[in-house]
Amino acid sequence: MNITVIGQGYVGLVTAACFAEWGHQVTGIDANAERISALQAGHVPFHEPGLDELVAGNAGSGRLHFSSDTSDAIREADVAFIAVGTHDGNGGWQTATILGCLGDVVPQLPDDAVLVIRSTLPPEFVHQVGGVVETLRAQSGRPALVVLVNPEFTREGAAIRDFTEPERIVFGVLNDPDGRGVARLRQLYAPADAPVLVLPAVDAVLAKLGANLFLATKISFVNELAALCDAFGATIDNVVASMAYDSRIGGGFLHAGVGFGGSCLPHQVTMTVRTAAMAGVPAPLLAAVDLINQGRRAELVARLVDQLDEPIAGARIALLGLTFKPQTDDLRDAPSLAIARILIGRGAEVYAYDPMESARALAASLVPDIAVRPSAEAALVGADAAVLVTEWPEFRQLDWPQLRTMMRGRIVFDGRNALDPADVTGAGLRYLAFGRGLREASVSMPADGDAPASALILIEGGGPIQPIPIAASRTTADEARTRTSA
Ligand code: UGA
Repeated sequence: MNITVIGQGYVGLVTAACFAEWGHQVTGIDANAERISALQAGHVPFHEPGLDELVAGNAGSGRLHFSSDTSDAIREADVAFIAVGTHDGNGGWQTATILGCLGDVVPQLPDDAVLVIRSTLPPEFVHQVGGVVETLRAQSGRPALVVLVNPEFTREGAAIRDFTEPERIVFGVLNDPDGRGVARLRQLYAPADAPVLVLPAVDAVLAKLGANLFLATKISFVNELAALCDAFGATIDNVVASMAYDSRIGGGFLHAGVGFGGSCLPHQVTMTVRTAAMAGVPAPLLAAVDLINQGRRAELVARLVDQLDEPIAGARIALLGLTFKPQTDDLRDAPSLAIARILIGRGAEVYAYDPMESARALAASLVPDIAVRPSAEAALVGADAAVLVTEWPEFRQLDWPQLRTMMRGRIVFDGRNALDPADVTGAGLRYLAFGRGLREASVSMPADGDAPASALILIEGGGPIQPIPIAASRTTADEARTRTSA
């Protein structure tokens, strides 16, 4: 099939490259000519594991092309996907980009083409889309188009696997009177062995939003639970590991820490609260999810200030990790930037390291008072405290006894509960984390440090820890998969 994907950001480029990998002829289009030139020269403009190879391989075999001109590719498209951004970068929705895109594309599409909207849509907007497309076709003297929505459930850092091995595929029907659109999309997704749900368009839109809102709720829930653990001297790792045995709960997305960031979860929570208010529907749970999440960043700083031996003004704080999660170079709504701004506002010197060079450079331009350093060690020299903000695997290999001799102070605040507390305390440093209160020195995490792969049971009286593999529990394989990539 001839496929056109409009919008070559994180979602659109992955979509284009994966369909090319499945053997289709794909053209990726973007209004940003610089981005298209980079792609034509073989440079993927952001970090996504495996994407460089996928783009290079499919461009090399002639199945994947890039263009900033919509016309030719659109006129030959069997299926056209729209994957442009819909948030305004300020906690609200914006539909100007997608409306502009529809204005360009819809009049030119062949009469038997299928138009598919892959962008995350505001629920109220989906009701307008059908009318907008119908009007644009009528104005250009063309017959009605088949229009579907096809929300994506891909995580940055695992996007290719999420695309090629999805847990479900959702088609939302806006206009498909003879079922031709659904049949064509089924054919397109045939290589993915996953259940397909064909829903009314508005249900598909809310199915997408609902998934992200629930994930965000789980994270704020576990973070509130971690605060209770701190208050009562319990260890969140043990509490969650026990909860995860209950198949009604599962263990995924229950990793306590400094909270969720990125371009999806934070915005979709705040956008939904706003949209709900406009629709006259109170959404107090989601408002609390946002409040708890934002509060984690300030709370980390407050606890750090409380534990420092010297005033925060003039203290040197080393941030380990800048990106909103590992395996990406994305800094959108990254907790690190908020934490750095609060610290700098209170007079601290902030040194930071992230394995992604591009993220270091961008952070330095977004928060000019951050001093970025080329290694964790360089950021930690002379530091009064280390704060781990992103759980990059390399931070678990840090040589804390060696670092102890280079640091000025003794505090290590593990903002992602990713380190083995014994490694830190064994080096004579003070370990702080979320929900690892009184038992912090006796908890250990699995080597990959994701949400618990084993339950860590403390024998009464503070005896040795007996790991119990969660695989032996009633949690499903799917939950385990979610857990390892959280
Ligand atoms: C999210 C969803 O997970 C995807 O399914 C969805 O397709 C995507 O949004 C989207 O709407 O496009 P993403 O934003 O890439 O994906 O990142 P997540 O893996 O969801 O992580 C979001 C944030 O939550 C990160 O800052 C992460 O560190 C944090 N997190 C995650 C926790 O604090 N605790 C957890 O247990 C899991």
